[in-house]
Amino acid sequence: MTRDMNEDIEKVVFSEEELKKRIAELGKEITEDYKDAEETIYCVGILKGAVVFYTDLVRSINLPVHFDFMIASSYGNGTETSGTVKILKDLDYDVAGKHLIIIEDIIDSGTTMNYLMKYFRERKPKSVKLCALLSKPSRRTVDVNIDYCGYTVPDEFLVGYGLDYAEKYRNLPYIGVLKPEIYE
Ligand code: IMP
Ligand code: MG
Repeated sequence: MTRDMNEDIEKVVFSEEELKKRIAELGKEITEDYKDAEETIYCVGILKGAVVFYTDLVRSINLPVHFDFMIASSYGNGTETSGTVKILKDLDYDVAGKHLIIIEDIIDSGTTMNYLMKYFRERKPKSVKLCALLSKPSRRTVDVNIDYCGYTVPDEFLVGYGLDYAEKYRNLPYIGVLKPEIYE
């Protein structure tokens, strides 16, 4: 048995270089959109999946931003989507009257983010926008508006760059698809 994670990957979907380029574009777009904002900008990362994307994205935003994080988990396991989301770690700050940019790894069914966006709006921020690295629209069961989207992807299970399979592969520097035998 090898410890080299690269050997478990069937194909690379987004290379390290590609991700770097796309994230720089997203950062530029966000910088442009918020350059005249007077209120504090809070970048809210959804742990753990978004953490790698978050650290690269915030460093490509050339404006002062504050960091905050949330941990949320969908109720039920596996493919079952109850629509209920449990908040395991809440925001640290009172974000009323502030600008929120929610940073997430992937929007799949949309259940988690649909719930969270309602939750954020109840905190009465000045504005709230969503930035997701990946979106799988073919899997959507509830509507989610993505203001900044890195890539639209087909219905394929992806790992790397924060995305896991059973908590593994989050630290791969690129995004790829696992070999089928890994799931067996
Ligand atoms: P949703 O509530 O169905 O949109 O779930 C989104 C969450 O499912 C993401 O934050 C990921 O944790 C997980 N997820 C969805 N698709 C993938 C994938 O292709 N690879 C890894 N995790 C995924
Ligand atoms: Mg996640």
